[in-house]
Amino acid sequence: MNIMQIEVKVGRAESESAEVLVLTHCEGEGLGKQDAATIDKALSGSLSELLRSKEFEGKAGETLLLHTHGRVPAKRLLLVGQGRRKDLTLDSIRQAMGQAVKRVRQAKAGSFAAACPAVTPKGRSLIEVAQAATEGAILGGYQFTAYRSDDAAGKDIAGMTFLTSQKAQVRQLTEGIRRGVATAEAAVFVRDLCNHPSNVMTPTRIANEAKAIAKEEGISLKILEQKEMEQLGMGALLGVARGSHEPPKFIILEYNRARKKDERPVVFVGKTITFDTGGISLKPAENMEHMKADMTGGAEVLASIRAAARLKLPIRLISILPVAENMPGGRAMKPGDIVKTLSGKTVEVQNTDAEGRLILSDGLAYAQRYNPAALVDIATLTGACVVALGQFAIGMFGTDDRLKEQVRKSGLKAGERVWEMPLWEDYFEQLRSDVADMRNIGGRGGGMITAALFLSKFAGDYPWVHLDIASTDWSERERAYIPKGPTGIGTRLLIQYLIDRSL
Ligand code: BES
Ligand code: MN
Ligand code: ZN
Repeated sequence: MNIMQIEVKVGRAESESAEVLVLTHCEGEGLGKQDAATIDKALSGSLSELLRSKEFEGKAGETLLLHTHGRVPAKRLLLVGQGRRKDLTLDSIRQAMGQAVKRVRQAKAGSFAAACPAVTPKGRSLIEVAQAATEGAILGGYQFTAYRSDDAAGKDIAGMTFLTSQKAQVRQLTEGIRRGVATAEAAVFVRDLCNHPSNVMTPTRIANEAKAIAKEEGISLKILEQKEMEQLGMGALLGVARGSHEPPKFIILEYNRARKKDERPVVFVGKTITFDTGGISLKPAENMEHMKADMTGGAEVLASIRAAARLKLPIRLISILPVAENMPGGRAMKPGDIVKTLSGKTVEVQNTDAEGRLILSDGLAYAQRYNPAALVDIATLTGACVVALGQFAIGMFGTDDRLKEQVRKSGLKAGERVWEMPLWEDYFEQLRSDVADMRNIGGRGGGMITAALFLSKFAGDYPWVHLDIASTDWSERERAYIPKGPTGIGTRLLIQYLIDRSL
């Protein structure tokens, strides 16, 4: 997908010539003194008539398109509902813009203009509003057409003009758009990687994607091949990779634009299983194709470091991806096998389908080399997370209250909310093994928790947060700015955390 061009323009909506002019409206309100009121006059009161008759009320998700027949320079007007003013959040703006873009595309328009939302959610800045509008517009238009030979999906929209009547707003709007483009194009990148099937998006292809990203200014790259992993003793990652013909990769990217020399970095670790069959503990056939997206965490930490570089954030960031394909095969790991992890701890592999925590244990142990100021891992880790949280919350665990609070706030701002779960040591009894330091499954009950507790044993004493994105990773239906299928949720949270941290 091509990312649309977005520009800011100082001007009045009633004199803007556009294919479609988008006006957002809050439910239950009149036209006030805004752009809409002037346009209403030019249209001899059609807008107020629509509101009076309740044909358009401004409810969230509502859209109405009308032709102007030359009475204003814009060919068509698109009214988009934002819901009630008192309930307005950044996400209402994202959703309204997502709906708008879909309707504009349906109308076969190639570009559109949007008046800057007149109301700002409580406590939010104009920069944040512009960022959210940009994200909604780009992400709402997302489509994955790489393997389609028809053009049924419709053309990408080429451009959007963001209108403001106040020259003083231009700087903030421009900054918001800059951030919004960076976060949205990162999420688009993640969706694409997750949509590509596993016969294309192999560990080697992931390594090639990392190489492309390392061309960005300020990013350096190191890729460990199987031999080096053996020398280092990454028995957990190697164990998972054994059943596959695809060689595993261990990818480390570093970005440094920190103001201080020797600044302790933020380290992201992302689970990157290019396909999860379950291995010898084979998964059932139904929905197994979703497991092509079991590399979402890795794609997200890859996208985040690219975004940090493009935004020139004054931080030091390391992104680590343990990459493998989880397959059954003649040489595959078997239940009961014991692996020695990079940390030195041994693990009895009671279930080869609990592979995410294995590869992450080596990823987290490696991360400790960087003496991280904050260590965050992100993973499509457990089916239990889906059961516990459904589609609307990421599972969060962590050892550091400040870091958890920062992640929680950034998630709320990004519209990718986290919900904290307990990381109590009591649960460790479920992970005890008779023959090794621990086993890789926790038995009945608390599956998301025992997985997180397993990981905690490899994070050292660093401020650490674990995000289980199995719940949000794949959407069963299309939403305002979230497509059916891979969502990329988590990407904008990570980047927002980096932005908020560097302000
Ligand atoms: N990748 C899966 C988790 C998953 C499930 C992600 C559904 C997205 C949607 C993970 O590797 C897995 O298979 N976990 C097992 C762990 C179990 C064997 C302890 C699970 O949750 O069933
Ligand atoms: Mn699995
Ligand atoms: Zn998995």
